[in-house]
Amino acid sequence: MKILAIETSCDDTAVAVVEDGRRVLCNVISSQAYLHEKTGGVVPEVAAREHLVTMLPVLDEALALAECSWEDIDAIAVTRGPGLISSLIVGTETASVISYVKGIPLIPVQHITGHLYSAWLGLEEEPRFPILALTVSGGHNELVLMRGHGQFEVLGETLDDAAGEAFDKVARLLGLGYPGGPAIAKVALNGDSSRFDLPRAWMGKENLNFSFSGLKTSVRDLAASLGELDEQTKADIAASFQEAVCDVLSGKLLKAFTQVGEVAEVHLVGGVSANLRLRELVSERMKNVVVRWPQQISFCTDNAAMIGAAAYYLRGELKVQNVVPDSGFDL
Ligand code: KG4
Ligand code: ZN
Repeated sequence: MKILAIETSCDDTAVAVVEDGRRVLCNVISSQAYLHEKTGGVVPEVAAREHLVTMLPVLDEALALAECSWEDIDAIAVTRGPGLISSLIVGTETASVISYVKGIPLIPVQHITGHLYSAWLGLEEEPRFPILALTVSGGHNELVLMRGHGQFEVLGETLDDAAGEAFDKVARLLGLGYPGGPAIAKVALNGDSSRFDLPRAWMGKENLNFSFSGLKTSVRDLAASLGELDEQTKADIAASFQEAVCDVLSGKLLKAFTQVGEVAEVHLVGGVSANLRLRELVSERMKNVVVRWPQQISFCTDNAAMIGAAAYYLRGELKVQNVVPDSGFDL
């Protein structure tokens, strides 16, 4: 079954064709990062206008790369939310019109659910349930127990900022550019992560929720107290910050793993799962269990292939339909 998936929840216009849930025939991503660099973050109106310009060329490119025509496509999938409403609407309108005009069924997919299936892409064999997944992005941060397809239980979530958002804000504070995650990770390679002892919000022994706003404020206060920052100090702040975030993320993941007991696999997904220090710490702490993250960096950050994977496994009854944005966080 070939699914053409469309994802426009934030600032990337993405279209993929995925066969039977895991075989990626193409994964086209038109990044708007160059536009948002100037503002150090995404301006929703600017993102939506760019989606309008790139949507149809990206669709054409995806079909060409997958060597498909519309007749070969069994279903369309589209991100219904959560995300920027003006961006989402470009994807849902495009998908709905194609669904009606071509008579192809349309499957709405929740964005975070898409991330949960990103570690399935490219695998020969299906992963085994129960899966404990940590999904960490710019817009969301959850610990999810996947007992089966569509049987998801949120064990913990962020009470304020998501980890990716903290990366972006600290990068902006240090003048490192947008998106902040890769910029911090790069600079941190030359930094001493033990130079600054930054706070970790554990919030009690059994607590599986996250909080990163206090850490962000600490970095801001620290930077202000140091005055003019030289390159080495910036690198040391970046490394200390990255260490604090990755320590909490991997620590809470281990806590959840111990609390849940029977877990067959641990999956690390979302934009922040591209972070090498996080992967290293998770691998170190999670022994005797299969640990996976997406096979490619382009499957970690927002992409349409993961939407195609989730659509395949959660498709239900197929129908031609109109899908409108829905910013609900329910998985
Ligand atoms: O999943 P994603 O593309 O978008 C959302 O759904 O939010 O995640 C984007 C986030 C950004 O905050 C970005 O800074 C972060 O993922 N990110 C990283 C890395 N690459 C991307 N954070 C830490 N280290 C990285 N290497
Ligand atoms: Zn995302």
